[in-house]
Amino acid sequence: RLASMNRGEAAKRIARLCEEIERHNRLYYVLNAPAISDREYDRLYAELDNLEKQFPDLAAPDSPTRRVGGEPLKEFRSVRHRVPMMSLANTYSRGEISDFHARILKLAPGRQMSYIVEPKIDGLAIALRYESGRLALGCTRGDGTTGDDITANLRTIRSIPLRLAGAAPAVLEARGEVFMPRKGFLALNREREKNGLEPFANPRNAASGSLKLLDPREVNRRPLGAVFYGAGETSGIEFKTHGEMLDRFRALGLPTPPRRWKCRSLEDLFRALEELKEMRPALPFDIDGGVIKVDERDLYDLLGATAKSPRWAIAFKYEPERAETILKSISVQVGRTGVLTPVAELEPVFLSGSTINRATLHNAEEIQRKDIRVGDRVYLEKAGEVIPEITGVNVSARTGKERVFAMPEKCPVCGGDITRAEGEIAFRCENLQCPAQLKRWLRHFAARGAMDIEGLGEAIIDQLVDMKLVADPADLYTLTAAQIAGLERLAEKSAANIIGAIAASKKRDLWRLIFALGIRQVGNKMAQTLEMHFDDMDALASAGNERLEKIHDLGPVAAASIIDFFKAERNRRLIDRLKKAGLNCKSTPALRSAAASLAGKIYVLTGTLAGFSREEAEEQIRRRGGRTSGSVSAKTTALIAGADPGSKLDRARALGVPVIGEEELIKILGE
Ligand code: IVH
Repeated sequence: RLASMNRGEAAKRIARLCEEIERHNRLYYVLNAPAISDREYDRLYAELDNLEKQFPDLAAPDSPTRRVGGEPLKEFRSVRHRVPMMSLANTYSRGEISDFHARILKLAPGRQMSYIVEPKIDGLAIALRYESGRLALGCTRGDGTTGDDITANLRTIRSIPLRLAGAAPAVLEARGEVFMPRKGFLALNREREKNGLEPFANPRNAASGSLKLLDPREVNRRPLGAVFYGAGETSGIEFKTHGEMLDRFRALGLPTPPRRWKCRSLEDLFRALEELKEMRPALPFDIDGGVIKVDERDLYDLLGATAKSPRWAIAFKYEPERAETILKSISVQVGRTGVLTPVAELEPVFLSGSTINRATLHNAEEIQRKDIRVGDRVYLEKAGEVIPEITGVNVSARTGKERVFAMPEKCPVCGGDITRAEGEIAFRCENLQCPAQLKRWLRHFAARGAMDIEGLGEAIIDQLVDMKLVADPADLYTLTAAQIAGLERLAEKSAANIIGAIAASKKRDLWRLIFALGIRQVGNKMAQTLEMHFDDMDALASAGNERLEKIHDLGPVAAASIIDFFKAERNRRLIDRLKKAGLNCKSTPALRSAAASLAGKIYVLTGTLAGFSREEAEEQIRRRGGRTSGSVSAKTTALIAGADPGSKLDRARALGVPVIGEEELIKILGE
């Protein structure tokens, strides 16, 4: 049906699909009431994507398929706000809310007036400018007068409409907050730690760090959301009340705060703020209080503003639960990738339901900024409801005996040198033989997905390192059964078994060894790609930037990391010893041959296969020169569908991508 569509029909269908997709976006993000399954949504999207590929000139610049822009930017352009972006006066006390209310009554005597209370979202203020309903500009608040043009980044946020719904005004500048939901934040940090990157301290920092990225493709991978609660410049649209504005925003497809309270008295306000506080843990994002706004917008001029904030609104911040305790000492932990993290050792104290005796201090800069000294009485708060954090020092309790902390010059675990890369906050122990790192490295080296050494688990590795029997992975290959027979928690026979398993690992494919080396940014897929492109380990070790960057799927960061790794003298020595120990350092000929049976082909897997795990099937494809991908596109050679296929099957069908089963997979692997 698709292939037979003529231009006119295609244009109509494309317009219709854009509208449908935008409508479903609104149902999902704005009204919280999705009407179709993810699968059906993907099908619409795939159909649009496919039609736009057939008729590229019919694809609108703000089509839902074009959220993620092309090239990274060099820098952000500055933009002056036509209407300044003010901030809010803050208070923590009911007394001050009562003063705020009294002041308003005095400034607007005899006026019927009311308030709206809404959550104060802990994110980053932004402004979106829609011209005739189309997103024309998106920028940060900056200093309130000038901000950065981050349109390309904001376009990647699915809850931000590229077009407004219905009859759109000539100009609407919607103001609101970009945030990272707590769940997405935790997942992002897990991912970052896995890749040897520093985790973000809280969702707010993660959101702001994400919007500062110059490559929109990177931003697209960050889980961000947005809500809108204010207006800057407008033309062709007016709102009598704040509540009306929020309703109009919703109707236009802009997400608004998840709850709001209309209040007519101080009692109403206090009740609303209490209710909001109760909801706090159930909200998907962090809030740091509630915002009270006069509902009647015609009072805004009369009420006016101070230099920084309007007199018609005030933020009520929730006092975080807080405790005071003594900082007994600061210890330094060495993480998986050698990052040194200072940790506060505290006099135990009870806070929000648990006893706390340690808290991360993140990094040396943080300690300096907060002027935290050993022996201080410090304030402890629970940030984002979960992680206890030292937020300040009770300076008046100082005796003069407190000591300023300095990062150790040598690694506290191994005594090795500490370095700090340019532009990085983190101090790192660069010694790969550092016991803390070594244990983690060996665990990775021996893992199923890497060298797959059966029986070489955590307990054994810890002892091997502690007893100084192993100082790097090459040492594993010189171990004798007699040396390990005496280790604890080792069954009688298994010393010989482990030695056997270590010996057997010498024959593993080259990609496993490349992956096992633990080069930052090189995961197992990347290792397989590398094996395909190089004859042997030496060829990879001497590859320059130009050669590496030509490889599909390999970005500049990974290339730099590979080059750095092989530049280090100790890594070269390690490779040498691994080679001498008899490990396979050559790539499998099938992988290298240009005539590899699946060269140039791209496969996607879905569902469960009976005879292979997903990883095994992917490896087999890559071995034959094929590529695998996580999503179906027009470039996909075929979708391999096992039992219970997911939405990829629908997408493949919509795109006309061939679908094959396990039998056919076995056949193509055999060819
Ligand atoms: S109104 C002139 N409403 O708080 C009023 N701000 O301290 C401008 N914020 O820069 C802001 N939730 O980043 C408003 N519901 C809300 C808000 C909110 C969070 C942030 C915003 C603003 C800061 C002011």
